Amino acid sequence: MTDNNKDAKCDFCGKPKEEVEKLIVGHDVGICNECVDLCSNILGDEKVKNFHNLADSQNKFNPSKIKDHLDEYVIGQNSAKISLAVAVCQHYKRINHPSKDIKLEKSNVLMLGPTGCGKTMMAKKIAEFLDLPFAICDATGLTEAGYVGDDVESILTRLISVADGDVKKAERGIIYIDEIDKIGRKGENVSITRDVSGEGVQQALLKMIEGTVARVPAGDKRKHPKGDMLEIDTSNILFICGGAFVGIDKIVGRRVNATSIGFNSKIAKQEETTDFYKDVTTKDLITYGMIPEFVGRFGIITYVDELGIKDLISILKEPKNSLLSQYKYIFELDGIELEFEDQALESIAEHAKELKTNARGLKNSLEKILIKYQFEAVDLAERGLQKIVISKDTVEGNSAVLIFDKNNAQTTAK
Ligand SMILES: Nc1ncnc2c1ncn2[C@@H]1O[C@H](COP(=O)(O)OP(=O)(O)O)[C@@H](O)[C@H]1O
Ligand SMILES: [Mg+2]
Repeated sequence: MTDNNKDAKCDFCGKPKEEVEKLIVGHDVGICNECVDLCSNILGDEKVKNFHNLADSQNKFNPSKIKDHLDEYVIGQNSAKISLAVAVCQHYKRINHPSKDIKLEKSNVLMLGPTGCGKTMMAKKIAEFLDLPFAICDATGLTEAGYVGDDVESILTRLISVADGDVKKAERGIIYIDEIDKIGRKGENVSITRDVSGEGVQQALLKMIEGTVARVPAGDKRKHPKGDMLEIDTSNILFICGGAFVGIDKIVGRRVNATSIGFNSKIAKQEETTDFYKDVTTKDLITYGMIPEFVGRFGIITYVDELGIKDLISILKEPKNSLLSQYKYIFELDGIELEFEDQALESIAEHAKELKTNARGLKNSLEKILIKYQFEAVDLAERGLQKIVISKDTVEGNSAVLIFDKNNAQTTAK
């Protein structure tokens, strides 16, 4: 069949060319736009089915596969990677193999540790790997219903919107709640003052984490212009919470001190480190201001380590899609090679360490160093620039070494 064939028709529905909007013709066959749409819908449904069977595939149930995936992007943090991988696999076993006799408890995860060390990133990478809807929110802005701020249910609205309005899909998703320590009672003398609203938020979150059917406003105004309410069952949503719990070292110190005489010197040594996270118990979290029932919902409590200079350098260079490879690519697109000397990387890492921002500040540091060259890249390339070398000196505020193509550079030297 050819386009100029007068008898051209859709070989699926039989409609002639004149009766359809578009007819795509191949060698001896034709298909109309309506049948293409139909096929596409069938394939779309197939994708949804795949999604629901996802956790059945052996690959996804093997925690070590999840860890391998995390290893590609996240430097260090072995304990947290293992805990998260096991938790996620447990979670999807629980959902996919409900048993009458044995009721598996939910395996929500609480991740402790300093800021900028990969907590959010790990949760995000797992969700990506499993192709699950993933919503991140910050506990700081959450309030009890009726108070100014986002109420706890807003988290669910966000998850549904990430799942493109598909509630069923959202019901199997992952929610990461950052800064969970901010809804605890605050301050050192936590036993004296009670932060009632923080406790209220914990209570509300607790219900959601345990599993409840919540009615939430449909976020998507296009699909639900009348502001409809949607019902969502949270019992199969996996919750991962993270927090730095600043000051909890003192609680750990006091507890250990009471039981072990030699701890003072250990604590003194730890002053500048965050080594204590691995010693945190549920009791410490309760003393910190979390309500016991809330802490009790986290079957898995894990921690991330503070990042050392070596780790920070590795983060710059090694992960898939590392910051350096991203910037190298940006310059490559303008035909310029970008090189960092080892000492420059060390200096950037040391700077991040001083600021105590861990990996969080790295991108900003690079951006600061490179902005000038990004701005001039096109012009410089036209003048024959071939390579930019970033040295320790450059990091400290001096110019980078610019290497021009000799022939070209001479002609443009004027
Ligand atoms: N261990 C790590 N390996 C690789 N990159 C990291 C690591 N920790 C942090 N980063 C980088 O720093 C950014 C901020 O980290 P994030 O996961 O948000 O920290 P946290 O949630 O612990 O405060 C990440 O987006 C990532 O680019
Ligand atoms: Mg975070």
